Amino acid sequence: MATREPHPSAAPFVPAARPTLQQLRQAAAGCTGCHLYECATQTVFGEGDARARVMFVGEQPGNDEDLSGRPFVGPAGKLLDRALEEAGIDRRQAYVTNAVKHFKWEPRGKRRIHAKPNAAEIAACRPWLDAEISLIQPTALVCLGATAAQALLGPRFRVTQERGRFVPSSLAQYVLATVHPSALLRAPDEETRHRETQRFVDDLRVVAEVL
Ligand code: URA
Repeated sequence: MATREPHPSAAPFVPAARPTLQQLRQAAAGCTGCHLYECATQTVFGEGDARARVMFVGEQPGNDEDLSGRPFVGPAGKLLDRALEEAGIDRRQAYVTNAVKHFKWEPRGKRRIHAKPNAAEIAACRPWLDAEISLIQPTALVCLGATAAQALLGPRFRVTQERGRFVPSSLAQYVLATVHPSALLRAPDEETRHRETQRFVDDLRVVAEVL
């Protein structure tokens, strides 16, 4: 039987000595630091301006992102785009990435259903996120959802209690967590979705004010 590394990590794949964004992306394309690469189509690395003042961190690529190789291009990404525009943040001037760079999924019939990455998978991928943060050095870092927030702000962090306000962190001058846009897509009815989307936009406006 094949044995797995006790502590899988992307660390051996991250280029040492101040890589460029392009070098990081190329190296990440060949990452086999944990098992998630086995079932994914490709690595979905972060995307955006290397001098971006704001970085958004989601959970992991979904089906559309896995196929296209780009973060936040599916339904959640489209909702994010609309909310950013409403909040006055230009996505072209942001950097968008995920805590985990490979799509984790389970089959359901012919469909590939999102499966939540576990703590070991998130930790394994963390060297890529750290490399992105230290290269971009964003003024503002925004965690989208509990997975990103807990990966970056600790497992006790509660988005429900602390969303929409800056929290002390050494990661960036301004660090804020809010809900994940896919949570808005799962709202039980149109009224709830509308209300929660407005709250999401309000959280993004807090970020827009410091950019
Ligand atoms: N959800 C995420 O967290 N990231 C993506 O890139 C897409 C959906």
